[in-house]
Amino acid sequence: MARQGRTHAQTRQTSSQRRLAAAVAGLRGTVQFDALLKDYTSFRIGGLADVLVEPVDVEDVARLVRQVRAQRLPLFVVGGTNLLIRDKGIRGVVVSLGKLRTIKEEPDAVLYAEGGVGMPTLIGYAIRHSLAGLEWAAGIPGTVAGCVVMNAGTRLGEMKDSVKAVRLVTMQGEIVDLPASKIPFAYRRATLPPGIVVGVWLQLKAGVRAEIEKVVKDYLHYRRDTQPLTLPSAGCVFKNPPKDSAGRVIDAAGLKGAQVGDAQVSEKHANFIVNQGQASAKDVLALIRKVRAAVTRKTGVKLELELKVVGQA
Ligand code: EPU
Repeated sequence: MARQGRTHAQTRQTSSQRRLAAAVAGLRGTVQFDALLKDYTSFRIGGLADVLVEPVDVEDVARLVRQVRAQRLPLFVVGGTNLLIRDKGIRGVVVSLGKLRTIKEEPDAVLYAEGGVGMPTLIGYAIRHSLAGLEWAAGIPGTVAGCVVMNAGTRLGEMKDSVKAVRLVTMQGEIVDLPASKIPFAYRRATLPPGIVVGVWLQLKAGVRAEIEKVVKDYLHYRRDTQPLTLPSAGCVFKNPPKDSAGRVIDAAGLKGAQVGDAQVSEKHANFIVNQGQASAKDVLALIRKVRAAVTRKTGVKLELELKVVGQA
């Protein structure tokens, strides 16, 4: 029999492929095996996902979660921009919410945005509907779900200031709505039950369109003048140390322009590492170690990562 001719490794591979296929069977969204994740990150870095799924709606996400659980496979969501995926990629099922892009205006200046809506799109929508409150996020390129999960913020504000409630698909595949009062938010972190954020209600306030637009434009100019927004990056790499700026500290340690391979500490803002072309995750991680060591040596400050590092080396 043909089966008897198989090596152990082949049998194992076939069974893991069967489980992956069962996890994504019958979904209405797109399914891509061996998908290159660098195409799904703002850093343009990252190896292969065993399978990448883009569900078409919230029910599709719930079905996927139930099937992935039944197959006991790992599940990971890409979408945030503060992300570094290692060079050997991610085993199991990776989800992108890129197709969940509906925005709805509800009474009393509330906006509901599906998880895959990009922050720039949401800010554009808020401006057109004369809704104030999201100006602080101008220039953040991530999805609204990614911004909630990490309580994204700038010096003008943070996500927790606007979140009214969150729609989540739990790891049991149930769709639940959580009021913000039940979500502990901290600096660049929201403690949510395990699951996937698929929608967010934001409490904004009625404003004057021209005024909102002006704040957004001024802030975008400030960021364009001070941050390397035209090169692939993952936003700020380190959290700000108490009462200081990681960028200022790294700059003061003389590290602007420091490079490993194609990964470089930005000449424009030292808390950004930019990908000059073909940077690997290994290059970025080596540069991070170099920056951390030099900063601690010169200033005593121990920088903490804001960047989330995932996948296999
Ligand atoms: N500075 C330097 N050298 C640098 C960078 C900054 O001397 O290379 C100095 C600036 O001149 C300024 C001070 O440090 O006096 C603060 O700089 P900036 O206004 O750029 O703010 P930041 O604290 O470095 C924070 C957020 C950014 C956000 C900006 C603008 C964090 C870790 N960083 O940076 O967020 O865009 O404020 O609001 O919270 C991100 O989270 O991904 C991110 C980039």
